Amino acid sequence: MKKLLQDLKETSMSAITNADSIDVLEGLRVKYLGKKGELTAILKQMGALSAEDRPVMGQLANEVRESLSSSIEEKRCELEEKMLEARLRSETIDVTIPGKSVEVGKKHPLNTVLDEVKDIFVGMGFTIAEGPEIEFADYNFTKLNTEEGHPARDRSDTFYFTDDDHLLLRTQTSPVQAHVMETQELPIRIISPGRVYRKDEVDATHSPMFHQIEGLVIDKGVTMGDLKGTLDTLMKELYGEGTVTRFRPHHFPFTEPSCEVDVQCFECGGKGCRVCKGEGWIEILGAGMVHPKVLENCGIDSSVYTGYAFGVGLERLAMRRFDISDLRLVYENDVRFLSQF
Ligand code: PHE
Repeated sequence: MKKLLQDLKETSMSAITNADSIDVLEGLRVKYLGKKGELTAILKQMGALSAEDRPVMGQLANEVRESLSSSIEEKRCELEEKMLEARLRSETIDVTIPGKSVEVGKKHPLNTVLDEVKDIFVGMGFTIAEGPEIEFADYNFTKLNTEEGHPARDRSDTFYFTDDDHLLLRTQTSPVQAHVMETQELPIRIISPGRVYRKDEVDATHSPMFHQIEGLVIDKGVTMGDLKGTLDTLMKELYGEGTVTRFRPHHFPFTEPSCEVDVQCFECGGKGCRVCKGEGWIEILGAGMVHPKVLENCGIDSSVYTGYAFGVGLERLAMRRFDISDLRLVYENDVRFLSQF
């Protein structure tokens, strides 16, 4: 029996020394020291020993158990330490490697100005309306007092979809006026930004697609004074307190009287320069008092209600605002250009 114990000690010790993982080590503990392990199996034979041998063997067995347990424990510590070291090594971070920079984009200058315009009008009690870019000629022209045969309806200016010219890409945001008058409760106080389309060749100031912001106010007792005050406020909020505006008589079929609004050139202060093409003024928008015929066409009693409307060119606003000299830059989406704003 002594031999059995010594053999057990020898083989188990070398197995423990060679164990290369915690799992293997745990397996060895069960194999040698577990309830059904090899040491227990040997101890079961104690009954067959003489009364003198029994305590001696008992003591030897205890010694073997203790030295096995402590070897296993030592080995466990050693293996755990190794594992930790390996993990630390594999997770080492080289803080000197340059990081990956995250490129954050910027708001497009058109959007910057549009958001400002929206804020200014929302602050004055306007809401934002939307209308379709594919429009009926009826809304783009007829309801707006632009009858068939009017030069504004010419095929050379307008993208029509159909041979009978009844469906088109809207040439202005003004048809939104008609939609809003037909569907919204009075009084009306809206702006409506969006794309418009005209058959223009691309150059520094023209594009077949551009943006307008339509405005419409209909209520009892609205006057040209309200129109002037509102548009003057818009220009001062956008371009600064000192901004000077000029209201110049003009003609639009859907407003009467009509005007165009210019801002004094801030490059030259009105003297005339490259930016304003020697004019001293820069044309920014068209406006006027809504024509009674338009009110009636859209089901509003023109003897009770009056209103004003305006259409601002968003690109013009943005180009003045950021001193952009060529319209094409606004659409090319070259980040070297866009990242300046
Ligand atoms: N729709 C006109 C244009 O495109 C602008 C405008 C809008 C004029 C509203 C008067 C009233 O030129």
